[in-house]
Amino acid sequence: MAEFKEISPNASAGAKLTNWFENRFPTAFDAYRVHMSEYYAPKNFNFWYIFGSLALLVLVIQIVTGIFLVMHYKPDAAKAFESVEYIMRDVPWGWLIRYMHSTGASAFFVVVYLHMFRGLLYGSYRKPRELVWIFGCAIFLALMAEAFMGYLLPWGQMSYWGAQVIVNLFAAIPLVGPDLALLIRGDYVVSDATLNRFFSFHVIAVPLVLLGLVVAHLLALHDVGSNNPDGVEIKKGPKGNRWSPNAPADGIPFHPYYSVHDIFGVCVFLMVFSAVVFFAPEAGGYFLEYNNFIPADPMVTPAHIAPVWYFTPFYSMLRAITAEMMYALVACVVLAAAFGVFKARMPVLFKGIVAVAAAVVVALMLAIDAKFWGVVVMGGAVIILFFLPWLDNSPVKSIRYRPSWHKYVYAVFVVNFVILAYLGVQPPSPVGERVSQVGTLLYFGFFLLMPWWSAKGETKPVPDRVTYKAH
Ligand code: HEM
Repeated sequence: MAEFKEISPNASAGAKLTNWFENRFPTAFDAYRVHMSEYYAPKNFNFWYIFGSLALLVLVIQIVTGIFLVMHYKPDAAKAFESVEYIMRDVPWGWLIRYMHSTGASAFFVVVYLHMFRGLLYGSYRKPRELVWIFGCAIFLALMAEAFMGYLLPWGQMSYWGAQVIVNLFAAIPLVGPDLALLIRGDYVVSDATLNRFFSFHVIAVPLVLLGLVVAHLLALHDVGSNNPDGVEIKKGPKGNRWSPNAPADGIPFHPYYSVHDIFGVCVFLMVFSAVVFFAPEAGGYFLEYNNFIPADPMVTPAHIAPVWYFTPFYSMLRAITAEMMYALVACVVLAAAFGVFKARMPVLFKGIVAVAAAVVVALMLAIDAKFWGVVVMGGAVIILFFLPWLDNSPVKSIRYRPSWHKYVYAVFVVNFVILAYLGVQPPSPVGERVSQVGTLLYFGFFLLMPWWSAKGETKPVPDRVTYKAH
């Protein structure tokens, strides 16, 4: 048990009250110190470091607005669509709550994509922050599941057919696929049973997992300490600052320095967020698709089914895997195996590589069902993110000190990701298909060839201390 802290009888009433609580709940006070007032973050954080706090803010917005939506929403195929219309028209402020929640879903992905990109820029996923990154990737997966299941709830045409298309993809998995799809739907088609289970997962199961993962993400980060735009480890540098002789010299307390800094970011974010909520909640059909204002009709398939924008880069990769594209994939596997054989010196490894490559090529050729490989590619595009800490071989962390041409590699990656996102909202076309096939190869090329290209080129000297200009 923690030691009882005495307080002077002459102390103020506020101090006495705080002391009363501290003696009865010291863990809360320790947590405040460890994570706020005595968490020393590098003093050179920039604009990119705002998105973690913003992601937390959006998480809170989603939970609070979600609680109010559930008070009026009916998870019943016969009533769901009209209950959402009822929220929009008759529930006092219901329209605001609903638009905050729908805009919040897109805002979440904007913020999280920028947050992940920051990690990429400054090598924040590298040792000792691999687990912080892995928890982040798991959060990203959970967020995708959460958004996908939430999208079925308004029971509009896009909700219905979007879910139909995606759940059917699971049926392409050999052996277990059809049963798995049945298990997910709870029926042979998307129906009331599907709506009920998606509702349950969307309001309880996935949010609990998300919250747990966010806590793990932050605890892991605070154990190892934050990275920064220079990629310099402040814990390895000199010790002693204004607040503590043992703290890193380049660290400043999170509270009040970054808490106030983040409040500024929150204000700017809320201005943009409110502008969308009040003036463009549909965002031209990107945040709320027009077809979703039509009630779900199992007898009428919309001409063009597209997921919401944040899924479209991955959806493009799924659509890119046609029977023809399979030849390109086989060629990539053969080239990779040949490269491996060329590089490997040990005969056993040599044989192993050839055998594995041959097995993969045969599997690709035999199970020629391109739909299945499309699912593998789409899933692989997310799963590959988990391996980033072990793919990057650069001797330095931050883009600032990497060879200048690395910036172009990142630029191509980002532009390619945006093009894939754009193509994913468009109806299929021969040109679009070809571009998304090239885009898919570029996306995977970026990661799979990273062990090679990240080590190439001349790095710039990394300073011993973080670079910081007082302002
Ligand atoms: C609900 C979603 C998320 C929340 C609430 C969240 C929250 C945070 C917060 C508050 C920080 C510290 C402040 C900052 O460095 O920005 C942080 C850091 C970090 N997050 Fe997240 N995060 C989320 C998702 C993700 C995802 C999807 C990834 C990557 C796949 C990720 C990777 C990281 C990394 C690598 C750091 C350390 C950055 C550094 O020290 O340079 N996070 N996160």
